Amino acid sequence: MTELRELERALSAVEAEARSAVEAAARPEELEALRLRYLGKKGRLTALKREVGRLPAELRPEFGRMVNRASAAIEAMLASRLEALARDETARRLEAERLDVTFPGRPWPRGHLHPVYQVWEAIEAIFVAMGFDVAEGPQVEWDDYNFVALNIPKDHPARDMQQSFYVAGEMLLRTQTSPVQIRYMRARCPELPIRMIAPGRVFRRDDDATHSPMFHQVEGLVVDRGISLGDLKGCLDLFAREMFGAAARTRFRPSYFPFTEPSAEVDVSCTVCGGTGCRTCGYSGWLEILGAGMVHPQVLANGGYDPEEVTGFAFGMGIERIAMLRYGVDDLRLFFGNDLRFLEQF
Ligand code: PHE
Repeated sequence: MTELRELERALSAVEAEARSAVEAAARPEELEALRLRYLGKKGRLTALKREVGRLPAELRPEFGRMVNRASAAIEAMLASRLEALARDETARRLEAERLDVTFPGRPWPRGHLHPVYQVWEAIEAIFVAMGFDVAEGPQVEWDDYNFVALNIPKDHPARDMQQSFYVAGEMLLRTQTSPVQIRYMRARCPELPIRMIAPGRVFRRDDDATHSPMFHQVEGLVVDRGISLGDLKGCLDLFAREMFGAAARTRFRPSYFPFTEPSAEVDVSCTVCGGTGCRTCGYSGWLEILGAGMVHPQVLANGGYDPEEVTGFAFGMGIERIAMLRYGVDDLRLFFGNDLRFLEQF
């Protein structure tokens, strides 16, 4: 009996020692070492187990139970300490890698539409509000559509104003958006009324401070019974006021285009001085913004309409020209130089 009590004390001592060692362990690897030290083949508890031989046979089962209980207790300590260490580690990492969702983000540079396209959209919005449809035509066009159907036959001197890039044979990069007039009429005829604008790229062999080999135009076409020059004036007058402000006025000067008769150059009162005269307008008070006129009867016929029955007006404006006036830019080439210091101002 005393032998058993002695062994029991020894077991308790080992268990107590294990407990303080486990409590003191700071890392999982240390716990693994402690497991070997107490429960391993050469461990402290395993050594005690061998003392069973000192006991009489009837006491051995009881000792066996004691050893098992001590072994289970040490296992439990190891497991719970391991769990506590893992919990601490998780808490530590959460603290260290804490994500503050209220922290202001890093700003990303934000782009915007190119000034030419901002003006494109502004022009579109004004005409759409007046009931115009927005049409498109190809940038590579037939000579027929770009010139012939617009009353500009092969040897016509008006071709000189629009030096062209020919792609092959009868195909060229369109020099104006006016061919869309023909395409649109042919697609719609005999529908009435026709109210369309056609914005897009055009190409001419020009390159200086006010001319670029590629630029943008917006074509306008209205066809119906009884359309008059007064309708054209009213329409462009409203456009000018919407585009340049309520004080803007327009002026029509006689001009010539083969596909309109009569034809006019349309000026808007100077956006800088308001019409009193300054450097921008060359002290005239006026700035030229577009070409326009009543659609030539032959062009109506080429579109499929009977010029005895319907009349129409057309206009064509350069988008860059409008943008230069709107933003006070004096060199067209700035729009195509891709210099962010310029572009970021819009
Ligand atoms: N297409 C002409 C140009 O590019 C402008 C224009 C369009 C004039 C429609 C009259 C009518 O110069």
